[in-house]
Amino acid sequence: MSKPTHLEPSELGTKEYWDNLYAAEISNHAHNPADTGTVWFDDSDAEAKLIDFLAEQQEQQLLSEETTSFLDLGTGNGSLLFGLRDAGWRGRMLGVDYSRQSVEFARRIAESRSRSQDHNSNSNSNSYPDADADATESQPAREPPVEFLEHDILRTPASALLAGARQPHGWDVVLDKGTFDAISLSPETDPATGRRASESYRARVAPLVRDNGGLFLVTSCNWTEEELRSWFEGARKDGEEEEEEAKGWRFDLVGRVEYPSFSFGGVKGQTISSLCFRKVRDT
Ligand SMILES: C[S@@+](CC[C@H](N)C(=O)[O-])C[C@H]1O[C@@H](n2cnc3c(N)ncnc32)[C@H](O)[C@@H]1O
Repeated sequence: MSKPTHLEPSELGTKEYWDNLYAAEISNHAHNPADTGTVWFDDSDAEAKLIDFLAEQQEQQLLSEETTSFLDLGTGNGSLLFGLRDAGWRGRMLGVDYSRQSVEFARRIAESRSRSQDHNSNSNSNSYPDADADATESQPAREPPVEFLEHDILRTPASALLAGARQPHGWDVVLDKGTFDAISLSPETDPATGRRASESYRARVAPLVRDNGGLFLVTSCNWTEEELRSWFEGARKDGEEEEEEAKGWRFDLVGRVEYPSFSFGGVKGQTISSLCFRKVRDT
């Protein structure tokens, strides 16, 4: 399958755009803590559908609610990870973004969630003033924190998200909701090869996904399912640079999320697409 033609660059492909957006969202949140900013593809109910899709993988025992680790690339306000926590997933979660303001914003939301949990557990314990032991038992277990980190997927080495105490064998599920879209709109090209930023994305993502079984779940409004397949499915693409130790892998398509479709001029389409790939090692 050949790669689709490139998108016309736009401001959504620049870091400045995202820095300004999240700076404005931080200020809105400071005035109104209930305002947690933009949820991308909300009109397609993407977040809920992705969470349902992951729950199905758990029902088939492909993932574990207790231990599955999640890495969210281009996390924005971290909403997808918070949604997964609310749905009961308790494994390690890290959201990364190249915008410092995004990371600051997501951390602030995490702090207000933690404060409201403290508040709820205090008010629960106040309702059992004479029975401390019962009060402790009746409180839900505290939710593990969601971590956030500044990280440029195209420039910071993948090892920063793998080495040491991070996730040495890769993340069980790597999420991308709208980030490949943004990267596909970047005006930047490699000065040596003339290649667009989107062309190096796949090779940057792959080392982050756990070998043999890790999932990459990507959601896009700019690319159709067929185009996403041609970007991500299979083994090494033409001109793709791979780190030596990351060679010999491929992405197999293992699932898709169903969205309402429309018909226009005899052509059927969807407003957004989410595809799930499993990383497999060629042995
Ligand atoms: C359309 S927004 C999606 C935000 C979030 N995933 C959501 O669904 O609400 C795209 C995000 O990708 C981030 N981003 C773009 N290029 C990036 C890069 N090279 N490295 C890390 N993050 C990037 C932007 O800062 C922005 O937060």
